[in-house]
Amino acid sequence: MTKSSKQLLEESKKRRSYREFLSQPVDIDIMKDCILTAGTAPSGADKQPWHFVVVTDNKTKIELRKKCEEVEKTFYEEKISKEWQKDLDKLNVDYQKPFLTQAPCLIVVFKEMYILNDKGEKEVNYYQTESVGIAIGMLINALRNAGYSSLTYTPSPMMFLRDFFNRPKGETPVMILAVGQADLNYQLPELKKKTLDEIATFI
Ligand SMILES: Cc1cc2nc3c(=O)[nH]c(=O)nc-3n(C[C@H](O)[C@H](O)[C@H](O)COP(=O)(O)O)c2cc1C
Repeated sequence: MTKSSKQLLEESKKRRSYREFLSQPVDIDIMKDCILTAGTAPSGADKQPWHFVVVTDNKTKIELRKKCEEVEKTFYEEKISKEWQKDLDKLNVDYQKPFLTQAPCLIVVFKEMYILNDKGEKEVNYYQTESVGIAIGMLINALRNAGYSSLTYTPSPMMFLRDFFNRPKGETPVMILAVGQADLNYQLPELKKKTLDEIATFI
């Protein structure tokens, strides 16, 4: 048991957010396994309030990138706070999102706030944000375990994704995961993860 926890820790330390990808396609069966792994996540009242849209079609990726860069340009030029920009400086990111067309696969994640039943009444889910967050964590780890890198990308604002992908009104977009083989030439930002003492208290 100790060995496998140490092993997972060491493997997890190697996960990083690469923002450049190689063009080789992903294995779609592996994507399905990873999404099914995410689908095993615990959720409030077992409502499983998530939906994953998998995009490998180039034309869709080009359109999506165009739309994301449009909203991001406004965000970076007009909306971002000084503090937020300062925090982003170390990551060297701007409104351009080339990884959206470079990554062979994009997984767009939605949280299901409610569904409309046969009578047109709302049936709400619970703890949607928490449940989807757990599922995404499991998805990222499953992708990493399968040898894929993923970049958590959150366009701001991102509500347009709902109409873009024809998802129901009860769903809210949460993020886009760009997935593929990392381009190891990408200059990773130097980051330091917090220590155990900083993130945990034992009583
Ligand atoms: C909720 C969330 C939103 C994020 N949004 C973006 C984003 O929009 N663009 C981006 O380049 N990285 C984004 N990231 C990636 C973080 O910048 C990255 O995880 C962080 O800098 C730590 O680096 P690491 O993943 O390499 O450990 C996001 C991460 C999370 C968890």
